[in-house]
Amino acid sequence: DYKNSGSIGWESPSNIAFIKYWGKKGNQLPCNPSVSMSLKNSVTRSWLTYKPKETGNQLHFLFEGKKQVLFEERITKFFGNLSDHFTFLNDYQISISSENTFPHSAGIASSASAMSSIALCLCSMEEEIAGIKMTEKEFFQKASLVARLGSGSASRSVYGGFVTWGASDSFSKSSDEHAVPFSKYVHPIFQDFQDAILMVSSKKKEVSSSVGHQLMENHPYASARFAQANTHFESMLGALRSGDLKTFIEIMENEALSLHGLMMNSSPSYTLLKPNTFELMERIRSYRLSSNIPVGFTLDAGPNIHLLYPKSESQKVMSFINSELSPFLENGKYIVDEKGDGPRKI
Ligand code: PMV
Repeated sequence: DYKNSGSIGWESPSNIAFIKYWGKKGNQLPCNPSVSMSLKNSVTRSWLTYKPKETGNQLHFLFEGKKQVLFEERITKFFGNLSDHFTFLNDYQISISSENTFPHSAGIASSASAMSSIALCLCSMEEEIAGIKMTEKEFFQKASLVARLGSGSASRSVYGGFVTWGASDSFSKSSDEHAVPFSKYVHPIFQDFQDAILMVSSKKKEVSSSVGHQLMENHPYASARFAQANTHFESMLGALRSGDLKTFIEIMENEALSLHGLMMNSSPSYTLLKPNTFELMERIRSYRLSSNIPVGFTLDAGPNIHLLYPKSESQKVMSFINSELSPFLENGKYIVDEKGDGPRKI
């Protein structure tokens, strides 16, 4: 039975990468494999309604109740690239309304959660209008591939827990086309991992990822970087499987600093880390040495720190943040999130 109007909602998380995707080729394919953890509380909720096409604008997008010109342009472009995957798109008028549960410019990637929630809505729409049912595996694989075309890192957000994206010999199921969930191989010590996002600055001075990926095109260290990322990917998967927190932290921190190193010595050059970012990194490292608590950091393309640790250490880490890190945070602000189970239909 064929449906020609309807409404669908999906909630999908943001994710934090431990091995960074930085540099792309072809049709949004990564130059190296990456690994991330999907978050629990930092999610985008998107509602998509569709009806047969009439005259006038075919796509309407509202974010938090308001028209957002830049994001609407990005979604329009994204939809323009989807005709191979959803042949019905041209026959419908689609309205999307999205909201985030996390504040804007909080150091949490919103394109991953937004694009993945929209991709999931489109896959559900396909099922509804065509009256088909994909297997769960097919459904999420397609959603991941489609999300990738909106934003590379969004491919990883259609799965919960630990997720890989990008082909690698060290994980036979891995693919450049879509992400692959990795949680079932991950040691219990990581299964309740926490992510405290420490706000150094909420000013929008990050590098847009499209600019960022371009920086790798003529980067003098590009081939060394892609080789390093492959080696790190293999060690990271090994550490996740075996529960080796020491290696996990070492690789995670090195990845974050490599990402910023690549931005600093690219042309043009970007220095996104702030003095307080350095202060925090040093304090985290010396706290780890003196307390023996397995806590480490990573960074996105901005100055804010993601602090990762097992839940069993929460109380100690909270008092460390409140007593020793708080003075270096913007208005003392941080957000605590944790590993989440992935998207859900709403
Ligand atoms: O998905 P994009 O194109 O926004 O790129 C994401 C880039 C990083 O967040 C810096 C790294 C990553 O793997 O998420």
